[in-house]
Amino acid sequence: MSMDMNWIAIGDISDIPLRGARCVKTPQGKIAVFRTAENQVFAIEDHCPHRGGPLSQGIIHGTAVTCPLHSWVISLETGKALGADQGEVRTIRVRNDNGALSIALENLMMAAE
Ligand code: FES
Repeated sequence: MSMDMNWIAIGDISDIPLRGARCVKTPQGKIAVFRTAENQVFAIEDHCPHRGGPLSQGIIHGTAVTCPLHSWVISLETGKALGADQGEVRTIRVRNDNGALSIALENLMMAAE
C-alpha cells in the first residue's frame, strides 16, 4: 500500500438513510456511498458493470445492492457481480470517524491512462 491517498470528506453518516445511498461526484467519476441496515458504510463506483446503471439508486440488501436497471446484484464489499453475472466495479475505501465520513481517492499523478 504505497499509493498516496487523498481523503475527501463527504459529510455525516446521518446524511444517508439506513439502507440508502448517495452519489458523490468526484474528479474520478461518480461514487455511490451506501449505508447498510447494520450501519456499515461502503463506497463503490456508481456505474454498474453491466451497462452503467446508477447503483446508488438500487436496492440495498445485506451488503449488496441490486442495480435498478436490470437487477444485477453487486457486492458492496468486493464490487463483484454476484450469481451468474460477470463483472466488477471499483471499491473505494471509506473512513468513518464517529460518523464523519471520508472516501479515499487514489492520487492519480502516477496513474498514466
Ligand atoms: S446496468 Fe446494471 S444490471 Fe444492467
